[in-house]
Amino acid sequence: MTHVSPAHKPQNPEGQPSKALYGGTTSRRITVRDIAAAKERGEKWPMLTAYDAMTASVFDEAGIPVILVGDSMGNCHLGYESTVPVTMDEVALLSAAVVRGTKRALVVGDLPFGSYQEGAVQALRNATRLIKEAGVGAVKLEGGERSADQIDLLVRSGIPVMAHVGLTPQSVNAYGGYRVQGRGEEAAQQLLRDAKAVQDAGAFAVVLELVPAELAAEVTRSLHIPTIGIGAGVECDAQVLVWTDMAGLTGGRVPRFVKQYAQLREVLGDAARAFAEDVVGGAYPAEEHSFH
Ligand code: KIV
Repeated sequence: MTHVSPAHKPQNPEGQPSKALYGGTTSRRITVRDIAAAKERGEKWPMLTAYDAMTASVFDEAGIPVILVGDSMGNCHLGYESTVPVTMDEVALLSAAVVRGTKRALVVGDLPFGSYQEGAVQALRNATRLIKEAGVGAVKLEGGERSADQIDLLVRSGIPVMAHVGLTPQSVNAYGGYRVQGRGEEAAQQLLRDAKAVQDAGAFAVVLELVPAELAAEVTRSLHIPTIGIGAGVECDAQVLVWTDMAGLTGGRVPRFVKQYAQLREVLGDAARAFAEDVVGGAYPAEEHSFH
């Protein structure tokens, strides 16, 4: 199956296969080489999270080139209050489901809190598990300079790493909340050092979360690896959203940087109420749903 969005047809006029990450005609799995080539072409691309095979298959068929099995599964799928309690077993199980549900997307498994902070060897053990057991094509971990040793060993061991700087939600207890990072000269310089450190350690891309747009633009210009923004302005090479936020399934307030492209919470609630009313009123099952 080719993955061509009706809204974004391959641009190549000679009918050559388009290599575009989104809207391209290649149907094999996206690799980190394709991601590097997109930065060279100046191509922007989308990334979404997913936590199960069915949702992942929808995004894969829509042509989303990179799917992150984020530890945001803690808040968005498993009912925790933050990402902190998420375990390796949970990430491994859901990552394997997302890999099974996809054919083309590069699937990135998130290393949860406590699975890499002890050091590079612990990071390698757990990243290896996600690669072998779940079949992901890359892993993600949080932290800039402080995670450089871990990134270096994983990359030297053949495991592609997506880094994550700016707001790193696994440190929410240290931050005392979710706040924009990199404000002020000193913090901005630290963010630039963090981004440079993960690139030098071999990361193939870096998430910039909750960072002022001007600073994210400066980081994007100064790196040769792509930046993936979330609450980091329009100049990043790619943009990521948590899928339940993007599709309007998340209950309550969503962060200001989120744009909701559907109202799934309302749609599902309406469907559940319509089903319930049919059952209570005897309209379901009707004759066509019954066997004789
Ligand atoms: O866990 C996650 O979903 C993430 C993204 C928000 C980047 O880290």
